[in-house]
Amino acid sequence: MLVLGIETSCDETALALVQDGRKVITSVVSSSLELHKEFGGIVPEIANRHHLEYIIEALEKIKESIGGDLKKIDLVAVTYGPGLMGSLLVGLSCAKALSLSLGVDLIGVNHLKAHLYPSLMQEKNRSSSIIGLVVSGGHTVLVKVKNYLNLELLGQTKDDAVGEAFDKVAKILELGYPGGPIIDKLSREISTENYVNFTRPYLNKNSLDFSFSGIKTAVLYYYKELACRKKVTRYEKIKIAAGFQDAVVDVLVQKTIYACHLTGIRKAVVGGGVSANSHLRKKLKAKAEKNSIEVIFPSMDLCVDNAVMVAGLGYQLYKLGQKSDLTLKADPTANF
Ligand code: KG4
Ligand code: ZN
Repeated sequence: MLVLGIETSCDETALALVQDGRKVITSVVSSSLELHKEFGGIVPEIANRHHLEYIIEALEKIKESIGGDLKKIDLVAVTYGPGLMGSLLVGLSCAKALSLSLGVDLIGVNHLKAHLYPSLMQEKNRSSSIIGLVVSGGHTVLVKVKNYLNLELLGQTKDDAVGEAFDKVAKILELGYPGGPIIDKLSREISTENYVNFTRPYLNKNSLDFSFSGIKTAVLYYYKELACRKKVTRYEKIKIAAGFQDAVVDVLVQKTIYACHLTGIRKAVVGGGVSANSHLRKKLKAKAEKNSIEVIFPSMDLCVDNAVMVAGLGYQLYKLGQKSDLTLKADPTANF
């Protein structure tokens, strides 16, 4: 079954063709990230306009890749939320028009659940539940995945998402936007003993909820205090950024392992933009191995927003009897 996935929830206009939920035929991603850089964050109006301008071009590329015949598509899967209202509407309108004109079914996909798909699809044979950790710019969530339809929320952030904290800390330190990849790269320049030591924001070690706004404020005060006394050097900024990264990674690792212990599950999957973080990958893999837990990360190209995950999850849900119709609505605050 050839599924077209459409993802326009934030700043990526992404379309992909995936065969039977696994084989990627085409994946097109155009990001408006560059246009947001000067504002230090996503500007919804700019993102919306980019989707409008780019989506037809992306569809042309998809069409070319299947010999110019869109009729080869069997199902259209689209992100309905969470995300920016205007951006979601562009993807939904395109998906509905295609579903209607091609005479194929439409299926709405939750963006958060889709983020776990690139890791879930790497599994060979699954018979029991898995722990899922979604770490993105807008969410930090721990779930128990029973199957594609049945996900149980175990914990989530009480305030900032972890990706958001990376972006805000990079802004405080004037390192650029988006902060996650920048902090990740810079931190690799120094050794661990030079990291500034920040208190780990565990909230409570027995809780599966997260809180990242406190550590962001701790970074702000540390930086301000230093800047009052002298000009802060690039090296000092890296020491702070790396210390922040180390602290939040420790929290993500502790809670993921704790979720496994609490549920007796020995396998975890990770997804979302922050799953590209090299420090998180290294530390979580090491800790999981020590605890005899298998952990699966997405391939690097499928960490940030893409349409492969939407087509893939759409296919699995459709196989389980789910589908949407033309009344499908955008839901900017959709949760698990
Ligand atoms: O999943 P995503 O593309 O969009 C949302 O659904 O939010 O995630 C974007 C977030 C941004 O906050 C970005 O800074 C973060 O993912 N990110 C990273 C890395 N690459 C992207 N954070 C830490 N380390 C990275 N290597
Ligand atoms: Zn995302």
